[in-house]
Order: sequence, then C-alpha cells, then structure tokens
Amino acid sequence: MAIFKGEKLNIEIYGTSHAEKIGVRVSGFPRLKIDEKSLLDLMKRRMPTGGVFSTKRKEPDLPIFVKGVNNGVIDGFFEAVIYNKDVKSQDYGDLYAKPRPSHADYVRYLKDGEKDYRGGGEFSGRLTAPFCIVGGLCKQYLYENYGVEILAYLSSVGKVDGRSYKQVIPQKEDIKKCHESGFPALSSADEMIEEIVLANQNADSVGGTVECVIYGAPTAIGGSLFEGLEGKIALAVYSIPAVKGVEFGDGFDLARGLGSAVNDGLQMDGDKVKIVTNHAGGLNGGITNGNPVTLRVGFRPTPSIGLPQDTVDLEKMENVKIVIKGRHDACVAVRAVPVVESAVAIALLDAIMQEKK
Ligand SMILES: Cc1cc2nc3c(=O)[nH]c(=O)nc-3n(C[C@H](O)[C@H](O)[C@H](O)COP(=O)(O)O)c2cc1C
Repeated sequence: MAIFKGEKLNIEIYGTSHAEKIGVRVSGFPRLKIDEKSLLDLMKRRMPTGGVFSTKRKEPDLPIFVKGVNNGVIDGFFEAVIYNKDVKSQDYGDLYAKPRPSHADYVRYLKDGEKDYRGGGEFSGRLTAPFCIVGGLCKQYLYENYGVEILAYLSSVGKVDGRSYKQVIPQKEDIKKCHESGFPALSSADEMIEEIVLANQNADSVGGTVECVIYGAPTAIGGSLFEGLEGKIALAVYSIPAVKGVEFGDGFDLARGLGSAVNDGLQMDGDKVKIVTNHAGGLNGGITNGNPVTLRVGFRPTPSIGLPQDTVDLEKMENVKIVIKGRHDACVAVRAVPVVESAVAIALLDAIMQEKK
C-alpha cells in the first residue's frame, strides 16, 4: 500500500497489477458531487489503447465507488476500486528470481526478499489508475470552486521536441483539443509517433517529457522552505512510476542564464500588479505569484524492453540474460499525461485546503 499524508488529504492506493483489484481510500476530501463524465474522460486518457505507444493489455479502468458516496456525493471519506480484467501472469513465467533491469524488482528483493516479479506488484504503472480517480476528483473540485484548470501535454518524445510553454504558454483550448485527438501533443505528433514506432519495432523503448500548466491558481498559496508548493507538487509528481526529473518554469535553463535575462519584472497593469514574464513558472519562494504555474516532467524510457538484457538469477546467484515478454508501453510518457495532471491536482488541492482552514 502507498500512502500520501497531506495536510488535509490522506490517500491510500492499494492492490497490485495482477491482483483481483486495485483501489484507493481517501479521507479529508471536501464535499463534491462527482461529475462521472469528466472523471471517466480523464481515466480514458490513461487507458491502454492497444496501439504502438501503449501496452496491448486491455483494461476498461472503470472506477466503482464502494464506500463514501451518497447520491453521487462524496463528503470526507470514499473508497473506489477497479477490477483487473486482463491479467496474463504466464507472460512473466521465466522471470522468477530474475530482476528486470531498471524495474523495482531488485529493490523489492532488498526490502522484502521478493522474487516473484509478475506484473511489478505495487510498483506497476497500473496503480496510476486509482491515482487518477482521486486526482480527477481533485481537478473537478479545483475547477468548480476556484476556476483552476490543470492541463498537461506531451512536450517531447526521444529527440523530437514539440511545442513547449517555454516558448509561449499554450491556450487551454489547444491542450483540450490535443487530448481529444488521441495523441496528446500540441505539435510534431507524427514525428513523435514515428519515434515510438521505431523503438517498438526495435523491441526497445523511448523516453519523453510531459509539461503541465496550472491556469488560475489562487495567488499566495504555498510557503517558505518545507511549505513550498514546488516541493509539494514535486513529491506528488515523483510518486508516478518512471518519473526521473521535474523542473518548474525554465528550470535547469535558469542555471545557465544571467539574472538580467531571466528575472521576471513587475509592472502596473491599470490598478493591478502584473509579473511580466514567467521564467520562474508562477512561483517565487514556493508561493504562487498569479502567473500560470508551469512544470516539465521527465519520463525515462519504459524499463521493459524485448531485447536481451543482463541480470542475475537470485536463486542460483549467477549472471543470466533475460528477454522480457508481456505487454508493455514503448513510451510511458504518453499515457502519463493525465497522471501528471492528477498528481498536480492532489498537491494543489491539499495546499489550498491547508490555507483556507
Ligand atoms: C502510466 C504508466 C504506465 C507504465 N507502464 C509500464 C509498462 O508497461 N512496462 C514497464 O516496464 N514500465 C511501465 N511503467 C514504468 C514502471 O512502472 C517504472 O519505471 C518502474 O516501476 C520503476 O520505477 P522508476 O522508473 O520510477 O524507478 C509505467 C509507468 C506509467 C506512469
């Protein structure tokens, strides 16, 4: 079980990829009438399509609320489950005691002595489905109560760069359109798909980046040091399997710049103050400054690849080669787009609830 202990929200995600079901228990959630359509739309964007860029595993990902919902309304606590329908453990048969490189297999062995790696247990990307249930509800609450929209898109795959907020912050409508198109990039979709097809043909995988924008975040949310909103968002985003980097605003590019080139100046706009540029990504000192919050998330290439790889046999304590069968995404970043939105929504709602006591 994985637990998020927020200031107000407590989230427990449980189950494993090859168990009968996976699910989520949440306490401290504010009163909300569930908008089923918007939740299912988000869940659908995470679901495998069976195409080249996602696993062939077919999972309907239908959340079933088993506790805490009355007439469609949540108030405080709820639990939702998803039944696993398309489990094929035999695909993993010859992997017993042979940790798959760059998976959590070997560290599971170090922690618990685990040698059965079918499906990746609780480290599987499948657990991002219950993550999206709670994240989707947080997104809905933030929109209905604060007018906040959290939208993410694929900004690169392998060496192919698409449009980025670092050039111009995208229009919300453009991001929503790309979600509907079935491939969530604002530009260069064909080239990105080619990159994924090529990796797939070579029995390989490829990494990618996802960018996320918070439109309309209330100002003055967050705090100094450990209270910083950047840290809270980063914690939630790093909870997503395969995330290996997070940057806010211009992020690591700022480390190469001069202050004179990247400081965000202030100016009067009528009787209001505005911050003219947004190199800092909407946050100063860990506190929202009124500009859109922007972040970029780096996803590693999918660890499971069909090529022979070096590992060890933990029973015989000898070197072996393995070839991973099973059904895997060639680029996990594609399906991770709604998961990033969910992580950001969880962190932001928790931070807002902490402030608005
Ligand atoms: C939506 C999603 C789907 C994933 N699907 C797969 C997959 O099909 N095969 C795989 O090897 N890894 C997949 N992963 C990534 C692994 O779960 C992850 O890389 C692994 O548990 C090791 O964790 P780490 O990369 O954070 O160190 C997926 C991740 C996400 C977010």
